[in-house]
Amino acid sequence: METVLSGIRPTGNLHLGNYFGAVQSFVKLQEEYKCFFFIADWHSLTTHPHPENIRKSVKTILSEYVGCGIDPEKATIYIQSDVREVAELYLYLNMNAYLGELERVTSFKDKVRSQPDNVNAGLLTYPSLMAADIIIHKANKVPVGKDQEQNMEMARKFARRFNMIYGVEYFPEPASFHMTEKAMKVPGLDGSGKMGKSEGNAIYLIDDEKTIKKKVMKAVTDGGPTQPDSIKPEPVANLFTMMEIVSTKDTYDYFNDKYNNCEIRYGDLKKQLAEDINAFCAPIRERILAISSDDAYLEKIARFGAEKATESAAKTLREVREIIGFRP
Ligand code: TRP
Repeated sequence: METVLSGIRPTGNLHLGNYFGAVQSFVKLQEEYKCFFFIADWHSLTTHPHPENIRKSVKTILSEYVGCGIDPEKATIYIQSDVREVAELYLYLNMNAYLGELERVTSFKDKVRSQPDNVNAGLLTYPSLMAADIIIHKANKVPVGKDQEQNMEMARKFARRFNMIYGVEYFPEPASFHMTEKAMKVPGLDGSGKMGKSEGNAIYLIDDEKTIKKKVMKAVTDGGPTQPDSIKPEPVANLFTMMEIVSTKDTYDYFNDKYNNCEIRYGDLKKQLAEDINAFCAPIRERILAISSDDAYLEKIARFGAEKATESAAKTLREVREIIGFRP
């Protein structure tokens, strides 16, 4: 069975865009592949977060991913810093990673520009840590967005280079797994573009009914169609796209017909949409809240994931040490 692996950067709470863009595919992937999903807390140290923030975001990610349906029994969900073997492999990969190639990585160059006072070695060697994350489980497929393509190329290069140097066929080259083409793009409700945290237009999975309603009622619309069957302007089209995602076909058709007859009342549409978003989110939200308030369960998940991931990583490390010339 092929192995799929993905690293999750701590970036706050999950919103509907994250859910339909990625998390939902993870939930499906765990049925077909051997899956590793880990929280990239070592990577997050490049920005020197406060210990309390680390604890909080790790807890949030665990609760939310498991609440969304990642099953700790089916997939291995773990915290990167629980698997020390990753750090050892990172050290080995760094010995064969060159300053020039690391400096040429676009995301590194962006960081040099945006935070010139904190250009640390962790930032420079981000690609070798990411490569270690991936090849330590000999992952074949890595679901990533376009922004990670260069890091993936580096991971392939480091895997190939290790094999070359030691004359072995040990690490498989991890392929990027683009789910974005298949995944649904969730629009923002502020007139244009997609839903995102930085766009400030996100509906979070843990938003309560009132918050959802408030956000949806604020959505941008227009004066309404003046001619039958007119093309919907983007803000209105976005509301319909959202409806396509969370509402039934009947509901969608009902409002679409109203729009086409110029009888649409956006207030009614928004009320329905808020209700349907809430109906969709409510069971997920309840699971997230239940899990996040159960520290014993969270600890159990983390421990179980760490055990499974460590077993896989330790096997690789024994073999790698032997290949390098160390005692296994
Ligand atoms: N770099 C990824 C991001 O920014 C997170 C990540 C770290 C990752 N290690 C990984 C993703 C390994 C896939 C595989 O989103």
